[in-house]
Amino acid sequence: MTTHVVITGASSGLGAALARQFARMGCALSLFGRDIPRLSAVADACRSTASLVEIFNHDVTNAVEMSAAMARLESRLPVDILIANAGLGGGDALAPAAGESLDLARRIADVNFFGVINTVASLTGPLTTRGQGHVVIISSIAGLQGLAESPVYSASKAAVRVYGEALRRLLAPKGVRVSVVVPGFITTPMSQSLPFHRPFEWTAERAAARIVRGIERNEAEIVFPWQLHLLSRAIGWLPRRLRDRAMTLGQLWTGLRA
Ligand SMILES: NC(=O)c1ccc[n+]([C@@H]2O[C@H](COP(=O)([O-])OP(=O)(O)OC[C@H]3O[C@@H](n4cnc5c(N)ncnc54)[C@H](OP(=O)(O)O)[C@@H]3O)[C@@H](O)[C@H]2O)c1
Repeated sequence: MTTHVVITGASSGLGAALARQFARMGCALSLFGRDIPRLSAVADACRSTASLVEIFNHDVTNAVEMSAAMARLESRLPVDILIANAGLGGGDALAPAAGESLDLARRIADVNFFGVINTVASLTGPLTTRGQGHVVIISSIAGLQGLAESPVYSASKAAVRVYGEALRRLLAPKGVRVSVVVPGFITTPMSQSLPFHRPFEWTAERAAARIVRGIERNEAEIVFPWQLHLLSRAIGWLPRRLRDRAMTLGQLWTGLRA
């Protein structure tokens, strides 16, 4: 049986790499994005190996559109793996010294939090009815510790991590799997727009291969690279006063703070 994989944010970076990875495995792909020329180029690259590739032009912040699109997809070909990957970050999500403007803060939260909810909540009903399926939510190591350079981005990634953790507990008895991906830096247009050094960065292909392995093993949290994971966990164990100092040292290390 062909595995049907749905990926949001498939027109670029990690989403495109995941699409190529699942295409090589012969899956049927439903690829979501807004930039149709870029999304079409990704779809074309997948067509020689995927069993089916379709593209969908939707903004994840549009709850009505997303819910209708997911219902149509599910009725035509039941969804096996749903990857809520679309996100707003990098240079576009950096906060000025006074913090994000209300407009920027709401845009980040809309895409990174409500965009994930709009994608996932539309399908949990059908998946639990069928007692099958795997939901994958892309969070970030930025959601493990609040980053001064991007408070709302950090908060949005922490929110979807906890959402995924709770959903896993809720849906497991119904036979639906949930994994949360917690990556460090990945080489994509998003990370390349950051004006500082990105330690332990992975290529998008390596990150996608690691995520596919984690999905196959039904890992609750797919976290990489281990170095940044260990560092952020270790900072979390420090007393609050030292935690803030350690984060400032981190900013000096990446060149964010002179
Ligand atoms: N790169 C990193 O270092 C890194 C690290 C940790 C976590 N992540 C997370 O990984 C995910 C993928 O990021 P990336 O690095 O691959 O970034 P990217 O290259 O900038 O790609 C972002 C994708 O999200 C889509 N998107 C953005 N806003 C959208 C909206 N309102 N509606 C629908 N689609 C939208 C974009 O689609 P269009 O261009 O077609 O609009 C694009 O396909 C994000 O959730 C990001 O937060 C990235």
